[in-house]
Amino acid sequence: MLTLNLIKEACTSLNGKVRVTPVEESPVLSEHLGVPVWLKLENLQVTGSFKARGALFSLIKCRDRGQQHVATCSAGNHGRGLAWASQQTGVRVTIFVPSGVDATKFDAMQRMGADVRKSAFFGYDETEAWAQSEAESMGIPFVSAYDDDFVMAANGGMIADEVHRQLPEAREFVMPVGGGGHAGGFAFYMKSVLPDSRIIACQHADSAGFLRSVEAGEPILELPPIRTLASGLEGGFGIKTYDVLKDRYDDIRLVNEEELRRAMRWMMEHHQMIVEGSSAVTIAALLHPDFPKPTAPLVAFLSGRNVAFETVREVMNEDDLTS
Ligand SMILES: Cc1ncc(COP(=O)(O)O)c(C=O)c1O
Repeated sequence: MLTLNLIKEACTSLNGKVRVTPVEESPVLSEHLGVPVWLKLENLQVTGSFKARGALFSLIKCRDRGQQHVATCSAGNHGRGLAWASQQTGVRVTIFVPSGVDATKFDAMQRMGADVRKSAFFGYDETEAWAQSEAESMGIPFVSAYDDDFVMAANGGMIADEVHRQLPEAREFVMPVGGGGHAGGFAFYMKSVLPDSRIIACQHADSAGFLRSVEAGEPILELPPIRTLASGLEGGFGIKTYDVLKDRYDDIRLVNEEELRRAMRWMMEHHQMIVEGSSAVTIAALLHPDFPKPTAPLVAFLSGRNVAFETVREVMNEDDLTS
């Protein structure tokens, strides 16, 4: 079960093993929204995304339980985090990835010595179902990239604790949401310590698993596959993450593919940073003309930077630079 104690344990266990990532003000967004806007730079985390945190905490827990080999399914960042965590802990990992996995993520996992297996499926949910059945036939445990208490504690709760120390005045938190591990753990911690904080969940309009779950009143575990640069946001929601986030969010913002690409260019233009599509969703939401005026200092999460050079070249060459 996700508890404040489990989050504290994640903080202690990962202390000194992952980076305390910096926060940086965005003067342009602050001016645009009329409140101080800060970016939490998890794109600077070891392995290039916040997923290193949950991956390492999970494998430490597996090692403590005597598990020497585990399987997972990943769009790339969780897998990359696990491949790195495998080197730290000695727990072997087999990572099942969708057929269209980003080349940068795939190469990094292989380079770190992980056993990476490409699915015949393009979509995350179909790949995950295949991964679970493969893990069962291999007789090894399956570690979810999001629907897991350890993952939520480290990928969300630990980051919330860190941000709260760095920016105690911040009250609005704009989060990327895929399977909900990051936002679920974050909201759990933040709503406990700051009940007046606002959690704003950002999703891809064509794969909005959390919004669909809220509308249905139950977790929607599978969605039709889509082609998107935000591969980490594609697919259905989780059972545990739905249970945690459903009563701890304040708004859901949807953005489309073009807005994501524009947000990636905006980050390059205004912060000279490359962020991947899943990460750009928060910036895209903030730049959207319908974004409600915030009333308190706001933090937007930049969750990762792992994107193939070819993709960056293509996105940057589109010519509608924003201001
Ligand atoms: C860069 C990035 N941001 C956000 C997410 C979404 O995280 P979660 O599935 O915990 O909601 C992912 C998931 O893979 C990701 O890779």
